[in-house]
Formats: sequence, C-alpha cells, structure tokens
Amino acid sequence: TTVGVTCVPFSGGQPKGGVDDGPVEMIRFGILDQIQGMGYAVELSDNMEKYRSMRPANDPPVDNLKNPRYVDIATRRVAEQVQAHCKEGRIALTLGGDHSIAMGTLVGSSSVYGDDLCVIWIDAHADINTPSTTESGNLHGCPLSFVLGLSEPSEALSNAGLFDWIKPCVRKDRLVYIGLRDVDTGEKEILRKHGIKAFSMHDVDKHGIGKVVEMALDHVNKDRLLPVHMSFDVDALDPTVAPATGTPVRGGLTFREGHYICEAIAESGCLVALDLVEVNPTLGDPESLRQTVAVGCSLVRCSLGESLL
Ligand code: ARG
Ligand code: MN
Ligand code: MN
Ligand code: MN
Repeated sequence: TTVGVTCVPFSGGQPKGGVDDGPVEMIRFGILDQIQGMGYAVELSDNMEKYRSMRPANDPPVDNLKNPRYVDIATRRVAEQVQAHCKEGRIALTLGGDHSIAMGTLVGSSSVYGDDLCVIWIDAHADINTPSTTESGNLHGCPLSFVLGLSEPSEALSNAGLFDWIKPCVRKDRLVYIGLRDVDTGEKEILRKHGIKAFSMHDVDKHGIGKVVEMALDHVNKDRLLPVHMSFDVDALDPTVAPATGTPVRGGLTFREGHYICEAIAESGCLVALDLVEVNPTLGDPESLRQTVAVGCSLVRCSLGESLL
C-alpha cells in the first residue's frame, strides 16, 4: 500500500500564525521515514510551500468570514491533491494546517468514494458553523457545514464566487464525532436539527472509549465495509497531552484514549483518508511543542496500523 501525503502549511482558517509550521515540524520529527519503516511506500504531493504564496494581497471579510479568498483557493488545491491520491488507491494523509483544510480533504476523498464515504471527526469542537452562525468568522470552525451543504450560499459569497466548487458531498448519517466539549449554541441546534451523531467527552466518561468507538463505527459503518475518512484535530486531546494548539479546551481525551481511537480505526481496515490538524509549534515552550508534534506523529502511525506488540 502507498500513503499519499499532502502537507498543508496553512493558517488562514483562524487568526494565529504558526499552525502553518505543523507539517514541516512533523516531517522534521521523522513522520515520513516512520511510515516507510512500517512497510508503506510514501508518495509526497509536491511543492508544499506553494500554499504560502497563494495568500491574496487583498482579502477583506465576506459575511463575517475571515480570509475567505485565501481559504477558498488553498482548500481547492488540497481537494485536488487528496483526490489524486485517492484515485490511485493510496491512503490519503493530510498534515495541517488548521482545520479549514478539511473542506478540501473531504471534497477530494468524497469525489472518489462518493456516498459511501464515512467521516469520523475527532475534535473538541464541532466545526459545523455556517457562514451565518459563526461568531468568530474563523473558517476552521465551519468546514463541515460546507461539505454537508447545510446552508445556501449567501448573495455576498456567490457574488464573490467563493466556495461555489464545494457541492454537498458527505451524508449527514455518515458523519460521527468523538471528543466534543466546546460546541457553540448555533452548532448544537444544527446537530439536533439534522440528527447528527456525536459522542461528547461525557459519553467517553460514561461508556469508556472502547464502547464509544464501537458505537461510532456501528452508526456510520455497521458492517465495516465502507471507506472511512478520519479527521483528527489534536485539540481533541487534553491540553496536558497536546498543549501546542490554537484553541485548547480542558477535559479532553487522554493519551491512550486518542491512540485507542486510531488503533481501532486501523483494525477496522477501512481507513482511506486521514487528516492530522491544528498542531501549532509556535505556541508554548519547546517541551510543549516537542510533545505535541510527537503525539501527532504517533497518532498517524497508530492509524496506519502500528501495533503495540
Ligand atoms: N466554534 C469555534 C468557532 O467556530 C471554535 C472552532 C475551533 N475549531 C478548530 N478547528 N480548532 O470559531
Ligand atoms: Mn478543535
Ligand atoms: Mn469560485
Ligand atoms: Mn477542528
């Protein structure tokens, strides 16, 4: 099997710099060699520095959304790269960057796997705000509303021609969350209205992570035959485990709970795409940085089937 890696040094979906250094730090830590060491071939999408040069000189907000042109153009490129990997039957691994890039990764994977695609979203946040519900205007809090097609594009967005390439491409009943604990009021309404399945930290405490992952997979992929795209935001982990991230929320997944999810997904044999996002190497002291980069890399290895024994 080949792992098709897309590195996305991108921070336009939120206001803090540094998350664009996530991919290079994970590569410096040895993630590519580690994947090869596990017996995979690695195919790297070329020229990751191109993302930085895509930032438009003038990018004023549209409908409260910040950096909309930059996010539009960068995520469109992510979609092309992930699509190319999936078409070739590679496991598409995308290293972020902030979570807005999932607009691109999901458009890319779903263009190949269609309606069958199951999405497992591991996060403290629901990232399902629409352009009208977002209070922050940060697009990393919005990717799922776009790919689910939850809102009609506003006049301002369509006049600007932004995000018009994103068609509804993920089924609401094939999305499931694990780890939620900081969900905006508008997002709670969306989850309820559309009956989207979510396991919060309360559910993890109540049932244990083993049962939660089983229930999550049962919901989207009962027979374990459908392709799975896992989008893993490191802020799902407790800040004591992954401190170097832009929007940390206490009360998160332990080191083992995070890894257990990845191991169980690997064991299912269904993984076709994986995003590892929101590692921000510039936040905190050198030890926090090292710890967060290391945990990001080990989640990736576990998802690809590294075994403990
Ligand atoms: N819900 C908040 C917002 O929309 C926070 C989103 C955080 N997202 C993330 N990918 N870290 O601004
Ligand atoms: Mn998050
Ligand atoms: Mn356009
Ligand atoms: Mn997120």
